[in-house]
Amino acid sequence: MGFSLNKKTISDVELSWFEGSGVVVRADLNVPLDDGVVADDQRIRASLPTLRFLTSSGARVVLLSHLGRPKGEVDPEFSLAPVAARLDELIEAPVRFIPHSDGAEAASQVAEVPQGGIALLENTRFLAGETKNDPALAQSWAELGELFVNDAFGTAHRAHASTVGLAEAMRARGHDAVAGLLMARELRYLESVLRAPERPFVAIIGGAKISSKIGVVSALLPRVDRLLIGGAMANTFFRALGLETGASLVEEDSLDVAARLLEEAGERMVLPIDCVVASEVSEHASARVVARDAVQGEDKILDIGPKTRERFGDMIGRARSIVWNGPMGVFEMEPFAGGTLSIVEAVALACDGGALGVLGGGDSAAAAERAGVAHRLTHVSTGGGASLELLAGAVLPGVDALSDF
Ligand code: 3PG
Repeated sequence: MGFSLNKKTISDVELSWFEGSGVVVRADLNVPLDDGVVADDQRIRASLPTLRFLTSSGARVVLLSHLGRPKGEVDPEFSLAPVAARLDELIEAPVRFIPHSDGAEAASQVAEVPQGGIALLENTRFLAGETKNDPALAQSWAELGELFVNDAFGTAHRAHASTVGLAEAMRARGHDAVAGLLMARELRYLESVLRAPERPFVAIIGGAKISSKIGVVSALLPRVDRLLIGGAMANTFFRALGLETGASLVEEDSLDVAARLLEEAGERMVLPIDCVVASEVSEHASARVVARDAVQGEDKILDIGPKTRERFGDMIGRARSIVWNGPMGVFEMEPFAGGTLSIVEAVALACDGGALGVLGGGDSAAAAERAGVAHRLTHVSTGGGASLELLAGAVLPGVDALSDF
């Protein structure tokens, strides 16, 4: 684990080099759209520092991104045109949207982009070669510039043509492939918390499925002082302990894993002691608080209860390093939002007091925004899957493919 030690970043390139040079940037502009309009522009904003740095240094920027999961063919629902419009509003540099995804098709229009301007190509996933890491496609993008900047931390766990293939193709042309400012910042915070965390080190893991978080829970357990579990994944642990879970979501297939993790963890793993339950998952549900051993037949566990919030809050308040991934309940709905919002507030308070607090995952980030505390946290990651994989100890292929220092 030593990204910051052995991979080049944009800051390693001589400043004067950028003037008039072509730079191909991969960003993660995979944002939610609502009726053809960007509904949440956090990822676009997070990409601005790199784009501003490049355009103000006189580079001609060719910008690539995916959006959604179109199936390797053009699908207007997933066009990046609305993203180009939003980017144009946010940045001072001229932005031109090019309705082609392939580098060779786009080349003549890219050539018209002025110094200090940005050409955003259409969704990379409109081409089947993108997710197959097709070398010819990667080569066509590499030919659009003399430097590749990968700033797409959220997509760094995918070995695709616009991430890994493009880095390799650019390097094969004798040019560098470097990390952008966002990528470097994400890796710096996530790795610092893993490498040498100031203690106590508390991890908070929530969300629906234990099966998608086994890697991260197993990797974090030996490193942390406390691992707090919330969200529906706690139900599977409850069941492994022999508790009644009523009509709650439980992953029957993961009961063995849950039992093993509980045994391995001993006191380090902390489960909720009370829960908010309701018989339906709805905004108008009549919710009750019950102890975790008082859940009944029709009950669905949908949030952590007030005693758990207090207990988790105390542990978070004493922590010097905190990582958090996944909500504590169905926080999109008012009756079940309290747990997640109280935890995000506790993490923000700890950060106010000098703790390092890093949030990963779209849901946790959305909760931080909703609670209005995102600015008080040390770092809110733009990557869900990527941050989970990094925390689970995986090497991210998009980072691995960059030029060595
Ligand atoms: C994300 O939203 O987590 C990233 O943009 C990656 O998207 P993907 O899971 O569709 O590859």
